Amino acid sequence: MEIIKTIVDFRKVRLSLTEPVGLVPTMGYLHEGHMSLIRQAKMDNSSVVVSIFVNPMQFGADEDLDRYPRNMERDLSQLQKEGVDAVFVPSTAEMYPIHFSSRVEVDNITQRLEGASRPEHFRGVTTVIAKLFNIIQPTRAYFGQKDIQQAIVICKMVADLNMNLIIITLPTVREPDGLALSSRNSYLNRRERKAARVLYQSLMLAKKLWQEGERDAKTLHWEMVRLIRKEPLAAIDYISIADTKTLMEREEVKLPTLVSLAVKIGKTRLIDNVILE
Ligand code: PAF
Repeated sequence: MEIIKTIVDFRKVRLSLTEPVGLVPTMGYLHEGHMSLIRQAKMDNSSVVVSIFVNPMQFGADEDLDRYPRNMERDLSQLQKEGVDAVFVPSTAEMYPIHFSSRVEVDNITQRLEGASRPEHFRGVTTVIAKLFNIIQPTRAYFGQKDIQQAIVICKMVADLNMNLIIITLPTVREPDGLALSSRNSYLNRRERKAARVLYQSLMLAKKLWQEGERDAKTLHWEMVRLIRKEPLAAIDYISIADTKTLMEREEVKLPTLVSLAVKIGKTRLIDNVILE
């Protein structure tokens, strides 16, 4: 497995990778969610590249950039075991040299849901992902459904800017009690970890009500609120019941509908979603 730190070196290694090439972009601290993307990338492609880069541009000033969990040694040994061909691990200076001044921005859908709470976030994501696509030149790139809005925004950027690759989104990997795997789960203490189950429980409640015939988005919304409010450690940031493409809020639940939410458990902000289809 090649471990490459610079863009110049990556371009040399890229010439030796057999096509098609699959890319799994990550911020490291890998878990089974990342592994499921890597395993699918291995099945679909002849070579697999994983990038590990904690991208400062997608963190707000009051967010967790400095304490974002990192364990490069463990990540690299996991990637070696999975049979990944190359890992791209650039420094911040390599990705954003002094005087770096370009941004890639997708309008509208980035202002809703996560974008309403984290106004700069998606601009950071699309900028770094556009750079990674240009550097790595993948045939396919893999993203998890847990960050569904991120995947939708990246698909829009790829379509709008005629980028020549396929985006693949794979289902969320969950703990046995339903909690979506996330590197940020490592922030939770024991009480918070238990409380964090309420995200998935509320999504399952919405799904159940919909399966029983409820079509009023407000009712689904308020039933979710009622359930989450029973958990003293949970504070709702948003609950959204929206169109899966435009991310506009729905009044009536038509298929497919994206039910998503962000909830703070103690100091840790977690997100999750389910698609009713
Ligand atoms: O989902 C993530 O880990 C990050 O947002 C990504 C896609 C690697 C961009 O930094």
